[in-house]
Amino acid sequence: MEERLQKVLAGAGVGSRRRCEDIIAAGRVAVNGQIITELGTKADPQRDAITVDGKPIGPPADKVYVLLNKPRGYTSTRSDPHAEKTVMELVKSIDAFLYPVGRLDVDTAGLLILTNDGEFTKLMSHPSHRVEKTYVAVVRGRIKSADMHVLEDGVELEDGITAPARTRLLAYSAKDNTSTVEVVIREGRKRQVRRMFSTVGYHVLSLMRTKIGKLDLTNLREGDSRLLTKREVSDLRKTADRSPANSAISRRNG
Ligand code: URA
Repeated sequence: MEERLQKVLAGAGVGSRRRCEDIIAAGRVAVNGQIITELGTKADPQRDAITVDGKPIGPPADKVYVLLNKPRGYTSTRSDPHAEKTVMELVKSIDAFLYPVGRLDVDTAGLLILTNDGEFTKLMSHPSHRVEKTYVAVVRGRIKSADMHVLEDGVELEDGITAPARTRLLAYSAKDNTSTVEVVIREGRKRQVRRMFSTVGYHVLSLMRTKIGKLDLTNLREGDSRLLTKREVSDLRKTADRSPANSAISRRNG
């Protein structure tokens, strides 16, 4: 089947689609002996001889899906010259061209998926699919239930009002004067949870993502990773497919 050249290259594990576009534009890719620099060009990996720097590309790489319990302090990127540490260091032993599905802030811990499957990444990250993500935030002060309702209904951020969310108070520590709050959102805007709390007057002291869909971090210690099972991947796909763009999230009672 003919596909865009950057997709074929990415599928063979040459790099991310973006990186493959750069490789094509740099004139390093040939199809049937002819150098191609046009990004829209299509090729059929079964039929055409495709090379990068004169070397034939391999067969399509097996798809790999990794669940990582990210510690704080690691940047969710394949490479960033400014990052002290990246999540890639934690999955070094896995032999695949992985990249993170979405991002967790450097100071956020918890559940991060990495994969070499571009379609899956797109499916999970696209705002219209609205996959549920669960976070546990420790905020300074005793949170008022009225403020939790405001968060649930949607708050105005610089990039627009947030979609309905669910919140649940997990604990209040009088000793530390902190509240531990679970928040379920279906969006993935930059520093969204921190900004939501800040809008209603609370500073987030720590933030952890505990779930995506129904996938959680059971038995996975901080810094550890494991492969997702076929079942887990198909459940995540189903969750994304099922989530209609404008479905209202069910609200917390009371
Ligand atoms: N919301 C945040 O504020 N940070 C994250 O890393 C994820 C969601």
